[in-house]
Amino acid sequence: MASFHIKTYGCQMNVRDSEVLSNRLLALGYRLSENEEAADIIIVNSCSVRGKAEDKALGKIGLLCSERRIRPGLVVGLVGCMAQRLGSGVFNKVPGLSFCVGTRAEHLVPEILERAINGETGICETGEFTDSGTPPPEHPEFSGSGGCRAVTGFVTVLLGCDRRCTYCIVPDVRGHERSRSPQNVLEEVRGLYESGIRDVTLLGQSVMNYGKRGFSWPDGIPSPGGYNEPFPRLLEYIAGMLPSLKRIRFTSGHPCGVTDELVRAMASIPQICPHLHLPLQSGSDRVLARMRRGYNSGEYLNAVSKLRANVPGIAITTDIIVGFPGETESDFECTRRVMDEAGFDNSFIFKFSPRPGTPAALMPDDVDEEEKLRRNKVLLEDQDKRGQTINSSLIGSETNVLVEGPSLRNGNRWSGRNGQNKIVVFEPWDGISAGDFADMVITDAHPQTLFAERVTVKAGCP
Ligand code: 5AD
Ligand code: SF4
Repeated sequence: MASFHIKTYGCQMNVRDSEVLSNRLLALGYRLSENEEAADIIIVNSCSVRGKAEDKALGKIGLLCSERRIRPGLVVGLVGCMAQRLGSGVFNKVPGLSFCVGTRAEHLVPEILERAINGETGICETGEFTDSGTPPPEHPEFSGSGGCRAVTGFVTVLLGCDRRCTYCIVPDVRGHERSRSPQNVLEEVRGLYESGIRDVTLLGQSVMNYGKRGFSWPDGIPSPGGYNEPFPRLLEYIAGMLPSLKRIRFTSGHPCGVTDELVRAMASIPQICPHLHLPLQSGSDRVLARMRRGYNSGEYLNAVSKLRANVPGIAITTDIIVGFPGETESDFECTRRVMDEAGFDNSFIFKFSPRPGTPAALMPDDVDEEEKLRRNKVLLEDQDKRGQTINSSLIGSETNVLVEGPSLRNGNRWSGRNGQNKIVVFEPWDGISAGDFADMVITDAHPQTLFAERVTVKAGCP
């Protein structure tokens, strides 16, 4: 049977979709190839969130298709957000591509693949967006680690997005919000748990909107903690049903979802990790309104204070867009101030990229590239200083680390992540394996990395 390799761009949801696809293909007898040179089928799972992400995937499939001259019979397919956005238009950009399958049609890949293996090219399927609110058929799947050795797992609980931030392509490529049933989510998390995974992230574009639309909490699942909101109830349900699942995370957050119940769930359910990715996007109220984010900087900072007051040691990370249309120097300075006040542990900074069909693409893209780059650099430097201060203050304290394996930078060292989702680097010891949890003491710190030593229990200690 033919072998396949999936190259994934974009967010964790794409990682999860690639795992689902991988498992489907493995179940059909295809073999997973860890390296693309040896694969008979290469599938690129693409992202549309910024122009650069699309350029990368387009460049990749272009290259792969040109390799066909020396690798006859090679099947090259495109799936994911860019496939959904471009549809058959992609064949004008990359002639010879075997197939293009959008986010709503990924369950059709196996049958499309068969046609492609028989030599057909230019097959396009993007499915239909329905507004029914019911989870689509393609998602009751198990994700698992797709045959790769992974210590963490991702489970999509909320598909699509209804926020319609003015810069964002996601609602166009992933459709309306649809929540999966708690039982369906549990089944998938349980599958991961049974495969040995102890750290699971629940995914949604705006995950705290889980259960807000076209959904009612099923009868027969009580809430011992007395939660009324569906997302805290979901957290409580998963944690209660799988008490040995050590870590539960969720992403991405939105300040409107930082309700009293959510904070109570984070504070009182021990498996929920003290980390939240809470995209700010901008610290200027004027820009936030033009982005249609649904909060102002004061409301954002209130959400941060509430979290810090109730969830000890919580790490908060964020996304920022610089150079949004009309962003002035003083708007930018507001962002710097709010970032400082929020005390982010880490920040992902992006230059605004107009996405076709979004409202912001019609606004004048008036911050030039050089200025976007400068603002990006300033925020990264600010973040480095902030990250260094925060991480240095942790030196001497203990932390629990989920071991991932040899560090990417230096194979003699190993790395893992703690509950705050910080990368922890350490010297490995005899018998260590990926998936172990280990208590460590932090000995050194960089802006985005902690260095630690294993805590050893000394004989004779009380
Ligand atoms: N331009 C730049 N960055 C964007 N993001 C989303 N859309 C755009 C865009 N058009 C960023 C946001 C989001 C992250 C995933 O990508 O910061 O949180
Ligand atoms: Fe990219 Fe957004 Fe699609 Fe994720 S959902 S792959 S970030 S466009």
